[in-house]
Amino acid sequence: MKSLKARLKRWLTALDGLLMPLARRFPALAALYYLGFSRAFDREHSAVLAGRLENRIAVRGERRSSYRLRRSVHRIEKGLIMRPRRPVFAEDYIGEVVGVVIGASRDDAIDVAELKWARDVLDEYFATVDKTPTTMAANAAYVAAFPTPLAGERFAPFTQQPPDADAPDYDALAALVRRRRSVRWFREAPVPFELMERAIDLASTAPSACNRQPFVFYVSSNPETARKMAACAGGAAGFSSSLQCVVAVVGDLAAYGHERDRHAIYVDGSLAAMQLILALESQGLATCVINWADVAQQDDRLSRIIGSQSYERTVMLIAVGFPDTTARVPYSKKRATHLMFKMVP
Ligand SMILES: Cc1cc2nc3c(=O)[nH]c(=O)nc-3n(C[C@H](O)[C@H](O)[C@H](O)COP(=O)(O)O)c2cc1C
Repeated sequence: MKSLKARLKRWLTALDGLLMPLARRFPALAALYYLGFSRAFDREHSAVLAGRLENRIAVRGERRSSYRLRRSVHRIEKGLIMRPRRPVFAEDYIGEVVGVVIGASRDDAIDVAELKWARDVLDEYFATVDKTPTTMAANAAYVAAFPTPLAGERFAPFTQQPPDADAPDYDALAALVRRRRSVRWFREAPVPFELMERAIDLASTAPSACNRQPFVFYVSSNPETARKMAACAGGAAGFSSSLQCVVAVVGDLAAYGHERDRHAIYVDGSLAAMQLILALESQGLATCVINWADVAQQDDRLSRIIGSQSYERTVMLIAVGFPDTTARVPYSKKRATHLMFKMVP
């Protein structure tokens, strides 16, 4: 039985070796390969579809989501900062943006600061652009919904000033960045909620495509749950007994209506994760990223523990805790700087 299995595996590997060079020649053949021979992309396909569907439901206003608001306001802000700024822009979608902002203002769960940002930006838009039938109609709808501007700090385009004298310089950043190492052994001490919250606050300032921020950090500071989460990944097998807290960085494919944007959750989630890691490090908390491979059973197990949705995909797990200073850390020599770039003439 064992030898039959091994023979079958060898045969399949050989067939794979024959099919791969053929299938890679044309995208349609590659699609056939992944339909008939390998089903490795099934879960990704299904999650992307679930995300698009969820996005459509949100666009129809049947489910709450601030992605559309965030992207819409972002587009207007970009128009406002252009040099030279066009006398009138966004005519083909300003009506839609106003509708999105009005819709968001009726949502009890909306973040009031987010709405204030949207209102401040639109106030500036209507005060700045030339009056055309389209902008006047949009402005009329806007003023009818919001007769007076909101008081308080203004969240609209600004000018970036040079850093002041006590801003962190290269050396300060270098000290923090070089101190961060992947630590796998932690003290048996809880990770204070306030430190995690402060770190997430900084992580949330990371850049993201169209400012959508399509990810959530699922945090467990319960060592038992944290270990169960890490066990789904496998990469923490040797040191899971030491884990105190695990963060799952989870991307939300419902932020997008098109497949072409499906990678943004990984890019944006990772940029924010790095800021989270450094913010934790700056507060004395060590981390170790735990790899998240696309494996069905692992996905299902983690999803059940954290309660994530079919359109959410895990980007990585991060173990967090106070380092056990008696344990050792791999040296992990880095590549030489000169090998890390190629100058493009
Ligand atoms: C995406 C990613 C996945 C990783 N997965 C694991 C893992 O599963 N288990 C583990 O012990 N370390 C993991 N690491 C940590 C790496 O081994 C570590 O970053 C690398 O060896 C460099 O060491 P340093 O972080 O101390 O600089 C991962 C790191 C990254 C960025």
